[in-house]
Amino acid sequence: MTTIAPEFLESIMPLLQDEQEKDAFIEACTLPLKKSITINTHKASLDEFLAITKPRWWHLSPEPFTDAPNSFSIDRDDLTHALGNTFLYKSWFFYIQEIAASMPANLIETKPWDIILDVCAAPWGKTSQLANKLLATQENPWLVIANDIAASRVQTLAHNLNLQWMYNTAITKFNGFMFGKHLPNFFDHVLVDAPCSWEWTWFKSDYALKFWRQEEINKIAWTQFQLLISAIKATKVWWTIIYSTCTINAFENEWVLARILEFFQGSVVLETVTLQNTEDGYNGQVWDVSFDQWALVKRFWPHKQKTWGFFVSKLRKVADKNDKPAQQDHKLLPKNHFKIRMHKKLQQEVATYAKKHFGIVIDTSRYFFIATKESVYVTSPAFATVQPHLHCEKVGIPVLKIDKRLWFRPTHYFGLIFWADATKNTLQRDEATIQEYVLWASIPAPSDSDPWTYPYKIIQRVIGEKRYPISLTKFVDWARKNKWWK
Ligand SMILES: C[S@@+](CC[C@H](N)C(=O)[O-])C[C@H]1O[C@@H](n2cnc3c(N)ncnc32)[C@H](O)[C@@H]1O
Repeated sequence: MTTIAPEFLESIMPLLQDEQEKDAFIEACTLPLKKSITINTHKASLDEFLAITKPRWWHLSPEPFTDAPNSFSIDRDDLTHALGNTFLYKSWFFYIQEIAASMPANLIETKPWDIILDVCAAPWGKTSQLANKLLATQENPWLVIANDIAASRVQTLAHNLNLQWMYNTAITKFNGFMFGKHLPNFFDHVLVDAPCSWEWTWFKSDYALKFWRQEEINKIAWTQFQLLISAIKATKVWWTIIYSTCTINAFENEWVLARILEFFQGSVVLETVTLQNTEDGYNGQVWDVSFDQWALVKRFWPHKQKTWGFFVSKLRKVADKNDKPAQQDHKLLPKNHFKIRMHKKLQQEVATYAKKHFGIVIDTSRYFFIATKESVYVTSPAFATVQPHLHCEKVGIPVLKIDKRLWFRPTHYFGLIFWADATKNTLQRDEATIQEYVLWASIPAPSDSDPWTYPYKIIQRVIGEKRYPISLTKFVDWARKNKWWK
């Protein structure tokens, strides 16, 4: 039974109708959440994904909050393999994401040339959604800057973005408070998925609700307020800021927004969050402020929406009230740009390699290469715009290793990113083989269907008329190995 701090219940009581609703809320906090997934539509379109999963008896129910859902609750008849061990998961056709948490990224209306800042990005879910959205809907990949303050969480973020080969991303590690001061009016959209009091973790453990303390909430609300000020200053005039939290209390949500509107005095406005089957915000006094725009923001409750507790809002910057010029001597500037190579010769060398070994013609409007001493990374050409202004911890995805003889060796991600254009050194295998293979088995080689040509081949699964990328495989000890890139 979940233990809930009386202080927490007292704080949300004004948001509930009566004792009966309070009981329904408490009961919902004891129930497990339904498993849900978000589809990586730049890998397989939604229709393709549904066609692939239907014969496998995956039952997908679209989330009920938008008209064009990309996220689904999932049930499966065949549970031989855990969801995270299926070849569709291992090759990133989808990822596991809570339904309410998938909403904020949907609210950003991306357009060509967008550079988006995700201020609090770790561990990764919403950055992936944003990067996928740009890749799936725009002609060019443009760029998502994924920032987080915590070093260990930045590592997880880098690992996850690699796994999903979201190459149109760059990672920074700054206090989010700094962007507004040093890069004012720079980004097209900013997402502030703010650190919060972790109320949402009720379904994993009762820790957050048991130890909920008002004084802790006060500190968190102040951090959220500062992050949002910085995010708004860093956004270009006329573009949008999404503010979301995984909490339901009004201090971290309505109070923060009321204070923001007061602070920016008309240069920032709230816009309606158009999500169906959700609840409006809280219509009442929170601490010293009253929030009268409650109908524009949305809240998810465990006992009503059957999701975790969540809050989402959308702001538009309509004027620039920033009276201070950007600080030029700033701490966000690249510290080691001289160590990164991104010149024309590098682009040509990679293009020659890709053509020679895999028949791939590199599309320079979609891919841009940068190199350290050991590795070549692929990223979006938009990185060149950002590079002079921002010190990045990691850019794009490592696709080639450079060995001691200065020869290129492809990584697993090379196969995943460039597979569609490969005309040689590819292998197609059936589903049973692929399922074994992704669980770290190896495939015997060489064979008639896999003649020796080059140690590396792009391995694909053919489904119907289409081929899908699984990984890049290497010939080692008379077998094709999966795990060699680790
Ligand atoms: C709710 S989580 C973000 C979840 C993430 N958006 C996702 O979808 O996976 C909040 C993150 O904010 C980060 N954070 C906390 N304070 C910060 C600050 N001042 N600047 C930047 N990031 C911060 C935390 O390290 C944490 O990773």
